[in-house]
Amino acid sequence: MGKSTVAKLLAARLGFLYLDTGALYRAIAWKVLQAQIQPTDQERVTTLLSTTSLHMQFHNGAMQVLVDGRDVTGELRTPTVTGTASIVSALPDVREWLLPVQRQIAERGSVVAEGRDIGTKVFPAAAVKFFLDADTTVRAERRHRELVAAGHAGAIESTYQDLSGRDMRDRNRSIAPLVPAADARPIDTSTLNVEQVVDRMMAAVSAVL
Ligand code: DC
Repeated sequence: MGKSTVAKLLAARLGFLYLDTGALYRAIAWKVLQAQIQPTDQERVTTLLSTTSLHMQFHNGAMQVLVDGRDVTGELRTPTVTGTASIVSALPDVREWLLPVQRQIAERGSVVAEGRDIGTKVFPAAAVKFFLDADTTVRAERRHRELVAAGHAGAIESTYQDLSGRDMRDRNRSIAPLVPAADARPIDTSTLNVEQVVDRMMAAVSAVL
């Protein structure tokens, strides 16, 4: 179970829009790869952003991402885009550029937003916040199953390595490190299934809204 799966289901149950912020970082990574720019090259990535348009469309609860008018949703979950997204998401200009893009969604209605800095930076005044976590081995198994289903199967060991490496970068970077908001409700999903996680969230949301 990815946090996206959980967030999408929660949004469906509540009748809210679902904002997958990882997909936005992935869309920028997609464009960086297309342009054959080094994702660590801050200056060139920033210049690239100045000629990039990013739009979101919502269809039956699913979020589609359009880069310069092209629907790239189906191309965002490859290992190459995943690795590049982790690198570009550490660039301050990228995060700054994406802030208004993410906040605009809230003007369209109630939102279940998912992302590492959603509760701390993007929507600090959110009515309810959750911080999902799970054992790394459990997460690697889940991600591996997703990759197999999407036809990108590699060895589970490499999925584990990729995940741990990405975690290290996401948690230890100086720009927007992965930390829970002080008022977030932690949920350890290691031994829970998707329904159980969503049920817990629904109970918490119902108590607040
Ligand atoms: O959640 P995800 O795997 O789709 O995210 C892709 C990358 O983007 C991941 O390396 C972390 C980064 N990201 C981020 O820094 N901040 C967010 N709000 C969402 C994603």
